[in-house]
Amino acid sequence: MMTKTVAELLSQEVTLQDVTVKGWVRTFRANRFIALNDGSTLNNIQCVVDFENFDEATLKRVTTGAAIHVSGELVESQGKGQKVEIQVKKLEILGDSDPETYPIQPKKHSFEFLRENAHLRTRTNTFSAVMRLRSSLSFAIHKYFTENGFYNMHTPIVTGSDAEGAGEMFRVSTLDAKNPPLNENGEVNYTEDFFGKETNLTVSGQLEAETYAMSLGKVYTFGPTFRAENSNTSRHLAEFWMIEPEVAFMDLAGNMDLAEDFLKSVLNYVLEHNLEDLTFLEKRLLDEEKTKPQAERSEMSLIEKMRFVVDNNFKRVSYTEAIEILRNSKPNKKKKFKYIIDEWGADLQSEHERFLVEKHFKCPVILFDYPANIKAFYMRLNEDGKTVRAMDILFPGIGEMVGGSQREERLDVLVEKMKALDIPEEELWWYLDLRKYGTAVHSGFGLGFERLVMFATGMNNIRDVIPYPRTPQNAEF
Ligand code: 4AD
Ligand code: MG
Repeated sequence: MMTKTVAELLSQEVTLQDVTVKGWVRTFRANRFIALNDGSTLNNIQCVVDFENFDEATLKRVTTGAAIHVSGELVESQGKGQKVEIQVKKLEILGDSDPETYPIQPKKHSFEFLRENAHLRTRTNTFSAVMRLRSSLSFAIHKYFTENGFYNMHTPIVTGSDAEGAGEMFRVSTLDAKNPPLNENGEVNYTEDFFGKETNLTVSGQLEAETYAMSLGKVYTFGPTFRAENSNTSRHLAEFWMIEPEVAFMDLAGNMDLAEDFLKSVLNYVLEHNLEDLTFLEKRLLDEEKTKPQAERSEMSLIEKMRFVVDNNFKRVSYTEAIEILRNSKPNKKKKFKYIIDEWGADLQSEHERFLVEKHFKCPVILFDYPANIKAFYMRLNEDGKTVRAMDILFPGIGEMVGGSQREERLDVLVEKMKALDIPEEELWWYLDLRKYGTAVHSGFGLGFERLVMFATGMNNIRDVIPYPRTPQNAEF
């Protein structure tokens, strides 16, 4: 007899057949009802034991967290709450659990506590639902790009260049930290290091993705990225996953169209395929919202928010228009913003982004044409000489979801820009080559995967949507 998953068993129409299933005990009630879960679905299968048929010693070992193997007959359930259940004929304990010390008791645990027990937290309904959704979103992303003619590219993780020019990188080195070789100037001599030069973990796969876009046409990378920014917020990780498509012959308008269509498509995919987990998470969020004051509660439920994004056009607004809106906004005039907006050129903080999205437009917003000096070196300079073809997509409750741009394809303009920012040409000679040999308009963007998972699960802290979060002072597990 083949072992079936709980998900398979619960969708069975035919009862009165012998089945076998393995999983972890959630609860064992009245020495008779085992709620068994194997991670295949949110739901447990009820396994009914007639205690007269089993020895007491075995039944004693059926405790929360224990792994068991159950065989028996699948029958229509007598009780409420489930269509089918298993009338247990054979019960084998695969792995005992100690009910005294097992951290995941059948009760509500705080997310802080569960983060400390992240190796076991996916045995809860909330975290198993979040991680199934994460997996489904990842699949939907690969599906979208594959179906739209993109090639998947694996960009390097160890890199010798700083793609974002922000300098917030983790060094990769095999040199002796206590006694590194020095050069004549007393600086660390990286020519003696493993790669013969200074190397870091990548902050973005974009620059390498550009090289492939300029040969394969449409590509995307989906990989881990690393940022050593010391921002201990609920939206930043030191290690996160980024999706970066890059397309030859596509301008900024095309980039916006692509990003919008892409986001709607992957959200729609989980609405169609993960409704059970979404419904559970929606209820969880509602319960959480009830603990907040009325004014802070969301007007829409989780699924309503997702449907809203899928069904409505994103609002496209230039940076210059946004500054006008912000300058004339109530919180700016009443000095409620921490950073007051009074001049064109100001960098937008998350309080401003959230005002635009949550209070002013009440829908996802694509901001474009930012001032050149607050954006990365590779962005296409506009004819006005002071703005670049950048775009950020802002989402309600999240803030920045996507950052992208049309790339500077003109060699002379790019070289100028790099000079001004002290970016050595020798380091990016290959990137400049793209502008020497068959250069063309091209664009792309980066989506922070965990921010998308936050939006699609209603989780408020980015640490709760990645299996093992890496944040300042924390790299447990
Ligand atoms: O806006 P960013 O820095 O853009 C880039 O890295 C470009 N190279 C992308 C491109 O054009 N190919 O990052 C892109 C997205 C952000 O919008 C945000 O969603 C996410 O990555 N992100 C983070 N997510 C979690 N933790 C962090 N520390 C993040 N930093 C950026
Ligand atoms: Mg950005």
